[in-house]
Amino acid sequence: MTIKPKRRILITGGAGFIGSNFIRYMLHKYDDYEFVNLDILTYCGNPRNLEDIQDDPRYSFIHGDIKDPDIAKNAMQGCDAVVNFAAESHVDRSINNPNQFIKTNVHGVLNLLRVAKDIGIDRFVQIGTDEVYGSIDKGSFTEGSTLNPRSPYSASKAGADLLALSFYTTYKLPVVVTRSSNNFGPYQYPEKVIPLFITNAIENKKLPVYADGMNIRDWVYVLDHCSAIDLVLHKGKIGEAYNVSTGNEITNIELTRRILRFVGKSEDLIEFVKDRPGHDKRYSMKYSKIQALGWEPGHDFDRALDETVEWYKKNTQWWKPLKESAGDARLWEKSETEKQA
Ligand SMILES: NC(=O)c1ccc[n+]([C@@H]2O[C@H](COP(=O)([O-])OP(=O)(O)OC[C@H]3O[C@@H](n4cnc5c(N)ncnc54)[C@H](O)[C@@H]3O)[C@@H](O)[C@H]2O)c1
Repeated sequence: MTIKPKRRILITGGAGFIGSNFIRYMLHKYDDYEFVNLDILTYCGNPRNLEDIQDDPRYSFIHGDIKDPDIAKNAMQGCDAVVNFAAESHVDRSINNPNQFIKTNVHGVLNLLRVAKDIGIDRFVQIGTDEVYGSIDKGSFTEGSTLNPRSPYSASKAGADLLALSFYTTYKLPVVVTRSSNNFGPYQYPEKVIPLFITNAIENKKLPVYADGMNIRDWVYVLDHCSAIDLVLHKGKIGEAYNVSTGNEITNIELTRRILRFVGKSEDLIEFVKDRPGHDKRYSMKYSKIQALGWEPGHDFDRALDETVEWYKKNTQWWKPLKESAGDARLWEKSETEKQA
């Protein structure tokens, strides 16, 4: 006799950075949950991120596109909940090629919401970003702040958030949205600033800091983000958005210096480069709403950053091939071919 799992959850985009950390986190925490991972495996989706759990009988993988109604239906069949991580996620690439961001982040989410409504899913968690609020010089955004996205990436994510929330208002689909600040940790594709800078420092390459390095970001360790998603999945109020941040606000130049210190390299590797167009100056959010649900970040920023550096030092066989095939997404102005795609 087979025993029905207590919960079967569809994770979309689970082969990426946060999704793979989330699947591993949840498998460790819940013995009786099953996870189906639907991922198209873009350049960021990497089956090696889940190599250690691929034979776990509670885990299965479907290679496919969230935009495809049949694939989404097949993947969602028998699931109680959906957590959607699938996205095009790199701001610099959205400057080169906004089309792909609208296709995946808006049309893809709409497709998942439609299928979830038809199937009668109990809980749909849409993973969003603080970037939907735009930049703020002083103070911090709350969940009630006006959305003011300023890049094609954040505009597409704002579209996804609003579509998801509209499916609650219009069809009573039990949707919850999270809006997290920047994540860091193991398995992050080495085009994003922290893994790019750690791996460049390891390789004695320059660390390209945009403009004067005074842009401010609030960093969340990926496992803290995972615990926040877990909480919202189980206890979040449907139809609501929850900010996830930590108050670890630091300038990019200070972040760069700390990375160099932890890797053990000189600040001579810092190179100031032309700014990203429309570069948001500062992100900052209040996260008292998710604190009221019982969440607190459990990791000290410096310790988690140091551990992340150690992970990249130990796992060169994971990131070296990715870096060799990726090119440098920071060179946004050089990619004419992509612009026309
Ligand atoms: N990384 C951050 O700092 C951060 C912060 C806040 C929110 N987010 C959001 O969290 C989510 C995950 O981010 P990440 O950093 O892990 O991104 P990632 O780029 O590492 O992973 C995205 C995953 O989605 C998959 N994917 C892309 N298009 C797909 C499609 N059409 N169908 C199926 N799968 C598809 C990719 O193959 C990849 O595995 C995204 O929605 C992102 O917007 C990220």
